[in-house]
Amino acid sequence: MNKLYKQYFLLLFCALLLNHFQVAAQRESRELQKGWKFAKGPHPEAVDSEFDDSSWQDVRIPHDWAISEDFIKDGNGSTGKLPWKAEGWYRKKLEINEAYKNKRIYLVFDGVMAFPEVYINGKLAGKWDYGYNSFYLDITDFLNFSEENLLAVHADTREHDSRWYPGGGLYRKVTMLVTDPVHVDIWGTYVTTPIINADTATVRISNHILNTSKMGDSVRLKQVILDPSGEQVSAEKMTRFLAAGEAAYFETSAKVLKPQLWDLDAPNLYSTLSQVYVNGQLRDEKKTSFGIRNIEFTANDGFHLNGRRVQLKGVNLHHGQGPLGAAFYPRAAERQLEIMQSLGVNAIRNSHNVAAPELLELCDKMGILFFDEIFDKYDAKADIVDTTDFEDFAHRNIRNFIRRDRNHPSVFMWSVGNEIGDVQWNINNGFRRLHTMLNYVNKYDPTRPTTLVNDQLRSAELRHFDLYDVHSWNYGRRYRIARKLQPNKAVVISESASTVSTRGFYEFPLPEKKTDFTKSLQVSSYDLNAPEWAEISDDDFMWQQQEPYVAGEFVWTGFDYLGEPTPYTNKEVEELGFDAEAASRSSYFGIVDLVGIPKDRYYLYKSYWKPEEQTIHILPHWNWEGREGEKTPVFVYTNGDCAELFVNGKSYGKQCKKPESTVSTERFRLMWNDVVYEPGEVKAVAYKDGKQIGEKILKTAGKATNFSLTADRKIIQANGKDLSYVLVEAFDKKGNPAPLANDVLQIEVTGEGHLAGAGNGNPQSFEAFQNDTVNLFYGKAVIILGSDFEKGTLKLRVKSANLGTETISIKAE
Ligand code: GAL
Repeated sequence: MNKLYKQYFLLLFCALLLNHFQVAAQRESRELQKGWKFAKGPHPEAVDSEFDDSSWQDVRIPHDWAISEDFIKDGNGSTGKLPWKAEGWYRKKLEINEAYKNKRIYLVFDGVMAFPEVYINGKLAGKWDYGYNSFYLDITDFLNFSEENLLAVHADTREHDSRWYPGGGLYRKVTMLVTDPVHVDIWGTYVTTPIINADTATVRISNHILNTSKMGDSVRLKQVILDPSGEQVSAEKMTRFLAAGEAAYFETSAKVLKPQLWDLDAPNLYSTLSQVYVNGQLRDEKKTSFGIRNIEFTANDGFHLNGRRVQLKGVNLHHGQGPLGAAFYPRAAERQLEIMQSLGVNAIRNSHNVAAPELLELCDKMGILFFDEIFDKYDAKADIVDTTDFEDFAHRNIRNFIRRDRNHPSVFMWSVGNEIGDVQWNINNGFRRLHTMLNYVNKYDPTRPTTLVNDQLRSAELRHFDLYDVHSWNYGRRYRIARKLQPNKAVVISESASTVSTRGFYEFPLPEKKTDFTKSLQVSSYDLNAPEWAEISDDDFMWQQQEPYVAGEFVWTGFDYLGEPTPYTNKEVEELGFDAEAASRSSYFGIVDLVGIPKDRYYLYKSYWKPEEQTIHILPHWNWEGREGEKTPVFVYTNGDCAELFVNGKSYGKQCKKPESTVSTERFRLMWNDVVYEPGEVKAVAYKDGKQIGEKILKTAGKATNFSLTADRKIIQANGKDLSYVLVEAFDKKGNPAPLANDVLQIEVTGEGHLAGAGNGNPQSFEAFQNDTVNLFYGKAVIILGSDFEKGTLKLRVKSANLGTETISIKAE
């Protein structure tokens, strides 16, 4: 017995020891969040290790150097009126462990705006150009293993051009990766699933393995596949000799039985574990998640996922996160996706640039399709400048973009760019450049369809579509010429709507034309306005019903974003007789506002995209003092097919949707244009197939007397980047929402966390985003709380002169 015990303990000890070595052998990945210093301006001397940066600002990554600044009132609204155009320096001491001496050390940057130059101990270790792309550097040979090391990064947006607010600096995460000299390359794992049946799927895995050591060795790869629950389902091995400095592709393939497919409502994720052994010792281990799913575009029956048609109910999302700017917080992105899914969105287009990698991880996990796009135009918006060698630029940027993103099951299409005028018209070697880009896409991933997103209708006659797979066109049924010339290719409406509105704001009478805008500097929320090149949401719904071959649409946009404030850009407000200060600083395009609060349009999309869920939404609000006796149109957005409308008990009759109407609004909304305003209540009773499905009541609110604070999450992680979004809503004393409240709120945050930003969705608000005050805008605002690294409680206290004080506590764990 005793002996048995001894043997048991010896075995346990050996196992633990082995485990220890295995853990130590694995790659170490550390996010460099803390300990950074930052200064704007030219500081070339900052590369020097001896440079004194004690007067510089302490910052945490992600960091957008302009978002907390004051607005430049007479600045350019199209890029957000914030001082993003600048150069800046970041410095950080790197802790390099002695034990790293025989390792390879990389820095991975997920995005630096823009033209980053990375210095280690005074020497240039590498640089990049395109501010939205990920890149990495091997910094091993620049490091001192016995002394302190200094990392300095220069970012420069002065040559960057943009049509929206781009942000500036180290706005996405920076990771230090430590590996064995023999290891799988960064983004070096590539998983494809060439054959998928109900019984089995063939999984092909390629690993690019590097031997960066000074010795040749026999390298064994053990390639394991784990199913969605983490169970091992296959393990393949292969061995080959890698000479010193050699790199090679190790290709294995395996069968997965009864594959659990990745799908929208069952986003099953498998993973591969690539284990690299040298002399029987585990040297590197890399986990990569992937999905097994079939995607197919058909010419006449849209897009198919796993063999069934899925209409793409998509939205475009820019990279910004409202009051947080370009700084990428995973939780902010997750919340965006949650809000979008709640109205029925099943696809995202990352207009128009390489996204943060976490966004794709989220789409994989949440079951959202991803239209992966690399560029907006091929000019300074893509950080292509006079000295750029296009071939080299295209190759480097496409390589990183595709290699980084190609294992995500959510990615269903690659787009090489948006609305590139000279490419569409084949000017300046446009088609050659297009061809170059597409060749590189196919070089790194031939398994997905490719596209170019177009807006120049007649350019289709030059047949640029012969070079790529899917017709993608923005607005106004512009796809029709391309489709006629090449009917064997599928069609995607890559940008639809561009309907504009301000949350909570209504104007009378209703606009006669979509482009009727007033001097109010806000856009009426009856959802009848769009710029001249665009349309209202209902038009796109109707066109897709009339042309069922269209695979779906991507609404411009899901969220409002900073910049591009059509119809109140500087030029437009000047035409209205205002000066530059009147131009807005954020867009009106969103289905939800800049801070994620639904506009009326949210309910229009939800009623059509999520017919299985009850939607009964009445607009406008019912507080129209001074309009008594005047005609005040009332619209109802519902998943029902009819509704009856009552004002103070008096019926205005039943309206039903008219599915055959050629007036698109009549198909999708219920409208009572002759309602006469009287204070009290307006009620809609909705019906579907003749049966009552529910009702909704809107009341005239009294004076606002109080407000509530509602946190989307009361527990967040103490990881320095988690967030809680607190919705502030005003009410009258009877508890009715107060739709006109515009009180100033004083914000105080104490305890373990900080104020990350606050906002209200008013494109005309010039209150800095990280100030400790925010105004209610049509009764609502959002305050964003961020965690630090200490666990504990975070307290938000909000005070208003007329509405009292409220507090809420959030736990950071
Ligand atoms: C499109 C463009 C988008 C945005 C939109 C506004 O033409 O691709 O980036 O500018 O117009 O309607």
